[in-house]
Amino acid sequence: MKKKLGTMILGAALVMGLAACGGGSDSSDSGSSSGGGQDTASAGGQKIYDQKCSSCHGGDLKGGMGPDLSKIGAKYSKDEILKIAENGKTGDKGTMPPGIVSGDDAEQVAQWLSEKK
Ligand code: HEC
Repeated sequence: MKKKLGTMILGAALVMGLAACGGGSDSSDSGSSSGGGQDTASAGGQKIYDQKCSSCHGGDLKGGMGPDLSKIGAKYSKDEILKIAENGKTGDKGTMPPGIVSGDDAEQVAQWLSEKK
């Protein structure tokens, strides 16, 4: 008899604990991921540029082996920059090889560069 009552109380406490946990983590998860995601997106573009593009386009965007990108946002839209970053470009200034960045990295660096005008 005593044993059975203890099990019931334990069971009830467990159910209540689980319900409280589940509800709490759901709402805090969605809140923190949307806020944090935006922060990394804007900081990420510059970091990716430094790692993948600055060797040709210069640490200050003023160009080197590749052309000046310091006002590239005035010349191209974000989508056009994204295509160049993924597919490269061949023109009178030389050849930029394809596949330097892709996916999320390309998206972030294109967004960052499209704000340079
Ligand atoms: C291996 C050297 C090299 C690297 C690395 C490189 N580029 Fe280039 N990029 C070039 C060259 C050379 C051109 C000029 C092509 C031409 O003559 O049109 C160019 C052109 C461009 C242009 C067009 C400029 C214009 O005025 O038409 C954009 C935008 C660009 N690069 C973005 C990037 C981004 C973003 C990255 C990094 C993800 C990157 N590049 C990495 C060599 C490079």
